[in-house]
Amino acid sequence: MKKINIHDLSFVPYLSEEDIQQDLNSLASSISAKFQDKKPVFIVVLNGAFVFAADLLKKLDFDCEVGFIRLSSYKGTASTGDVKETLSLTVNIEGRHVIIVEDIIDTGLTLEKLRGDIQSLNPESMSLCTLLYKPEAFKSDYPIDFIGREIPNKFVVGYGLDYDEFGRNLPEIYQLED
Ligand code: IMP
Ligand code: MG
Repeated sequence: MKKINIHDLSFVPYLSEEDIQQDLNSLASSISAKFQDKKPVFIVVLNGAFVFAADLLKKLDFDCEVGFIRLSSYKGTASTGDVKETLSLTVNIEGRHVIIVEDIIDTGLTLEKLRGDIQSLNPESMSLCTLLYKPEAFKSDYPIDFIGREIPNKFVVGYGLDYDEFGRNLPEIYQLED
C-alpha cells in the first residue's frame, strides 16, 4: 500500500485487506451468535456500505434476507447534518429482526433518522452494525450493537467509503494525510 491522491487530497495507508478481514470475522461471529436462528433482515445503507455488506454476508452461514436504503448527509469531507433519504426500503420488515449495516458511524446523525424510520415499520427488533466508528465525533446516544473497529476522528476512504464519490473501489482503507 502506498500514498494515494483523490481529487485535491492525499491519503496514507491505514487498514490493509487483512486488517479488514479480521474485523469482518469477529463481526460475523458476534452476529451469528445472536441471530443465527432468527432469519434476520440486513438493511444495507447505500452507497458506502455495499462493499462491507457483500463481504460480511458471505461470512454468515444461516438464513437471512438483505434489503437496501440510500441515505446521504456528506459533502466533501464533512457531514452537512441534513440527512436525505433518496431510495426507499426494498424489503418488508414488519415483525422481523432487522440489522442495519453501515460503513461508518461518525456524528451518528444519519442513523438517528434511519432508526426512527425503521422503528415506525414495527420490526421485532432493530440492531446496528458498522465497520468503523468514530467515538470522538459521535453526537448521539443510541447503542451500536456491532462495531468492527473504533477509529480516530480523521477522514477515511476506500472499501466502499468515498471522498466526493471517488475511492470506493479501493480494497484497503486510507486516511487523510495530516
Ligand atoms: P454520520 O451521519 O455523521 O454518522 O455520517 C455517516 C455517513 O457519513 C457514513 O455513512 C458515510 O457515508 C459518511 N462518512 C462519515 N465519515 C466518513 C469518512 O471518514 N469517510 C467517508 N465517508 C464518511
Ligand atoms: Mg454511508
